[in-house]
Amino acid sequence: MELKGKNVFITGSTRGIGAAIAMAFAKSGANIVLNGRKEIPIEKIEEIKAQGAKCIGISGDISDYEKAGLMIEEAEKQLGAINILINNAGITNDKLIMRMSPEDFKTCLDINLIGTFNMTQHVLKKMMKKREGAIINLSSVSGLIGNVGQANYAASKAGVVGFTKSVAREAAARGVTCNAIAPGFIATDMTEVLSDKVKEQVVKQIPLQRFGKVEDIANAVIFLAKNPYITGQVINVDGGLVMHG
Ligand SMILES: NC(=O)c1ccc[n+]([C@@H]2O[C@H](COP(=O)([O-])OP(=O)(O)OC[C@H]3O[C@@H](n4cnc5c(N)ncnc54)[C@H](OP(=O)(O)O)[C@@H]3O)[C@@H](O)[C@H]2O)c1
Repeated sequence: MELKGKNVFITGSTRGIGAAIAMAFAKSGANIVLNGRKEIPIEKIEEIKAQGAKCIGISGDISDYEKAGLMIEEAEKQLGAINILINNAGITNDKLIMRMSPEDFKTCLDINLIGTFNMTQHVLKKMMKKREGAIINLSSVSGLIGNVGQANYAASKAGVVGFTKSVAREAAARGVTCNAIAPGFIATDMTEVLSDKVKEQVVKQIPLQRFGKVEDIANAVIFLAKNPYITGQVINVDGGLVMHG
């Protein structure tokens, strides 16, 4: 898809990977909706606008179905129909399974998986009617191979993979693509909480021997958004951490 002038809604784009994705789309001439639960800082909107793109901020929790619908409605009112949705917002809430409360498990699923469903459902009908659209979901290598302390997170991200492939099959005949990116360890607030010892151990397992940069993920997202003949795929952007046979 040609990105210039297209409207892109990126959930969880006030910092980290989402902010880098927003900047990459803005540099490609697309209009941007920034989102997060907290109020969107005006400086973030100005940074995007400086690229020559239109940019609006719409704050709200994607795990709330009604709110998700209202956010899409507001974006459409201000910019027009959403052409590309990036389901990026996500949280971790790591605990060993024996210490994980039902609430710890549910919160992760509610945001990472149910939130992805909520936002997708509110844009998909219009995309299918227009016979054009792209949805890109952020999964994780944890969802592919599991991770100690992340039963909730890994379950949510594995769910995102199944969701992505199902939406891809349902929407393909109407020209809408749906893909996922599975990042490995990327330097953001989410991984900043890991101790230096854990970070060292992680780097030893990564063939490319470093944490990824947010731009590494943004580049892969742009690649998928531009290509109308890739759908139902999960692309690992992880320095070689997970290699499929
Ligand atoms: N960093 C990594 O190593 C890594 C690896 C694999 C996968 N991922 C995935 O990549 C995505 C981005 O990760 P990141 O590291 O950039 O995270 P981050 O730095 O923690 O940023 C998360 C963003 O999501 C927003 N957010 C969180 N919950 C939300 C909700 N319920 N509704 C709306 N916005 C919400 C946050 O804003 P507020 O705080 O204002 O809500 C923030 O803008 C996530 O899905 C994550 O699981 C990351």
